[in-house]
Amino acid sequence: MGGVLAVSSPSVPDQTSSTDARPLRIGICGLGTVAQGVLELLGGNGEGIRTRAGRGIEVVRVASRSAKPGVDLLGAEFSTDLTSVTGDSSLDVVVELIGGETTALDLVRSTLESGRAVVTANKAILASNGDELFALARQRGGVLAFEAAVAGGIPIIEAVTRSLAGNDIRWLAGIINGTSNYILTAMAERGETFEAALADAQALGYAEADPTFDVEGIDAAHKLTVLSALAFRIGCRFEDVYTEGISEVTVEDIEYARQLGYRIKHLGIARRTDEGVQMRVHPTLIPETQLLASVNGVMNAVLVNGNAAGDTLYYGAGAGALPTASSIVADLIDIARGHRPDVPEMLAANEVRLQGIEEVVTGFYLRIPSLDKPGVFARLATILSEHDISIEAAIQKEQAIHMETSEAWVPIVILTQPVRESVMIRALDAVQKLPEVVGGIRRMRVEHLSDA
Ligand SMILES: NC(=O)c1ccc[n+]([C@@H]2O[C@H](COP(=O)([O-])OP(=O)(O)OC[C@H]3O[C@@H](n4cnc5c(N)ncnc54)[C@H](OP(=O)(O)O)[C@@H]3O)[C@@H](O)[C@H]2O)c1
Repeated sequence: MGGVLAVSSPSVPDQTSSTDARPLRIGICGLGTVAQGVLELLGGNGEGIRTRAGRGIEVVRVASRSAKPGVDLLGAEFSTDLTSVTGDSSLDVVVELIGGETTALDLVRSTLESGRAVVTANKAILASNGDELFALARQRGGVLAFEAAVAGGIPIIEAVTRSLAGNDIRWLAGIINGTSNYILTAMAERGETFEAALADAQALGYAEADPTFDVEGIDAAHKLTVLSALAFRIGCRFEDVYTEGISEVTVEDIEYARQLGYRIKHLGIARRTDEGVQMRVHPTLIPETQLLASVNGVMNAVLVNGNAAGDTLYYGAGAGALPTASSIVADLIDIARGHRPDVPEMLAANEVRLQGIEEVVTGFYLRIPSLDKPGVFARLATILSEHDISIEAAIQKEQAIHMETSEAWVPIVILTQPVRESVMIRALDAVQKLPEVVGGIRRMRVEHLSDA
């Protein structure tokens, strides 16, 4: 039941559909990458899809800003007017694939208001308006299906809402933005700078001309919002996701982390602790032996820890026409078959305590540019120790010459044991004031992704 969350629509035929010859009538809004993938899949795998759906899936209408000559619309009528789809009450399902947050939201809202089914890949509208849309689907007896919205072709919505429904999910951590993962991989494997790796990603079509959403972590935060809402029933709280991108990560950090036995990955992490739920997106050092450490290039993966299943890992293509279409078509097949799971009831706002980033406990990677003089490391270690911060490992790197003072300096790299972030911030304030510290301190969180 890939991501189908609300049901009992009068327009969605019941389980009897296996003997019902009437095809599921769909309209598609948008004719870009994903929509073209959906048409290709419905056309190419038509027979198998019909068998699994118990009936045909008929694309009746397609509406988008511009026609795409050469794209096989499978007999659908094309219009540049989106209301030709949203206003056609004979359609069972509207597939929203235009993206963005304004027109898309309006059309999803109006379709749900009419009690019909919506399939969407749009994590942005779910992250910001998911609660309203879930409620609307429930009130009007519609369906809101969105398996494609998180991690493209990976059936992670299905996993979190159904396959792991018997678990208390304790935490999940994912590489959920392929562009960022591609860039970090290129930096690690080829020693490219962030800027060069980003240019590569753009040339290959993995990054948009404006890459902000991807490299600053916003896209990952949208997806983490949706996963957290489902895993912890906390509603869609996008504003509460702490978000840091990868643009500050350097090749040096990646190399130092490697020498310490770690990889740097851009992770979305959601965790339930006794003190509340934390949601955060940031570059993270993880041990090189951790499975997520070997997820490279544009691939995505999500690791979910449940109290019964333990760790389960979901890996695959997080984007692309056909992988994303695979999830859209899975939702359509579910709807065609009349699957009607319950909407997960979200907790009331006062039942949810969220942790701010300063409350979060993690290990830290620190890179401290310091004068190359005797006793400096001891002074750093003393300050950390005064804040009850234990050092797990440290390396002192090759000497460099300070541009302004011409003094010799070295980056001192330290890995710490887990410590509350507010404590680390206080300690680093003190470290930064040492006269031997000659530049900004770089810090990154370290996660072992285990319950230990
Ligand atoms: N691409 C992926 O791999 C992927 C993966 C997972 C989820 N998604 C999500 O899937 C959705 C679609 O992504 P996409 O990559 O297919 O985007 P896309 O290639 O940019 O396609 C968007 C389509 O919608 C049309 N459109 C945009 N705004 C419109 C408007 N106001 N009125 C009418 N038509 C409009 C565009 O028309 P023109 O052709 O004239 O520009 C285009 O055909 C987004 O929500 C995205 O986040 C994408």
